[in-house]
Amino acid sequence: MKLRVIDWTASGAARLLDQTLLPQEVKYLQISSVDGMIEAIKSLRVRGAPLIGIAAAMGLAAAAAGRETGRSRVTQADLEWLSEEAEKMRRARPTAVNLSRAVDRMLECAQAAFVSGRSDLAKALRHEAQTIWDEDQAMCRKIGFVGSEIIQRGATVLTHCNTGRLATGGIGTALGVIYTAHEQGKIKKVFADETRPLNQGSRLTAWELTEAGVQCTVITDSMAAALMAAGSIDVVVVGADRIAANGDVANKIGTYGLAVVAKHHGVPFYAAAPTSTFDLTLETGREIPIEERAAEEVPTAEGAGVFNPAFDVTPANLITGIITDRGLVESPSEASVSKIFPTDSYPLPA
Ligand code: MRU
Repeated sequence: MKLRVIDWTASGAARLLDQTLLPQEVKYLQISSVDGMIEAIKSLRVRGAPLIGIAAAMGLAAAAAGRETGRSRVTQADLEWLSEEAEKMRRARPTAVNLSRAVDRMLECAQAAFVSGRSDLAKALRHEAQTIWDEDQAMCRKIGFVGSEIIQRGATVLTHCNTGRLATGGIGTALGVIYTAHEQGKIKKVFADETRPLNQGSRLTAWELTEAGVQCTVITDSMAAALMAAGSIDVVVVGADRIAANGDVANKIGTYGLAVVAKHHGVPFYAAAPTSTFDLTLETGREIPIEERAAEEVPTAEGAGVFNPAFDVTPANLITGIITDRGLVESPSEASVSKIFPTDSYPLPA
């Protein structure tokens, strides 16, 4: 994809591609305030678990750059300001743990700048935000290599939502696997679920894959079972927003249904995610907070109720493996997940 999804401006603001308008319109937003970034995250102008972490970090750095204090060193007042802004940012969306983790890293960075008597908080925060982005880019590449091993030559892959360059700081997670396998000449075709109600599959994944020369066919979410029954899908690869210690995976609503159907038809089902998406403080997926979005996203008759959860949880026993930057977690369980976190209980990228 030739377009930059996220970037810095010369003045230290964040520049975002507005994903709500894609693929019809390419428009960039310049964001220099925390409230501006919260609005962009809540309204899905920027989206995808890893990318909202990066965007949140950039939003905090941009806000600090615009708040020239003229003081010679980072003060307690600076820390208090950042802490208030960071807590607002953390609440923008609840499910993807990458957001909260990025906010924590920005707070830790500011604390370190305070303790070491640094004068340039904005510079330190920008460096940390860029590091979060760079690490994600590297993790995507590793996920791509690890995941390409499970793709057979001539494979037809089904994916859900959008997990590529529009959702991460790099080539993507599930789409990173697909791009890497495509470069190896292994991909015959990708089916992309439409992904109701906001159509991240039909708008974003179809656009990304087609631009990259990967043959992509969009189906509505309810067609996946029929395709599997017809033997048309070799493997399902999806992303993740938060993974509990036992390997339960929260991802875009509809993922759980796909996993049930895949199990029924004997189709291997993989989730792909960086280590920053694991939350080992949660024993099972039942503890993962699930975002409920506005009723307006689901058009219906006046007076009818709408239930609109943005994510669901797929139990580990339906998942063939989790593809991570630290290797493949086969038959996810507390024991197999803990193997990729030998020392750190609070996982940070290697
Ligand atoms: O609501 P969204 O579009 O932010 O949801 C995104 C997903 O569910 C993705 O599958 C997930 O964040 C992984 S992105 C690499």
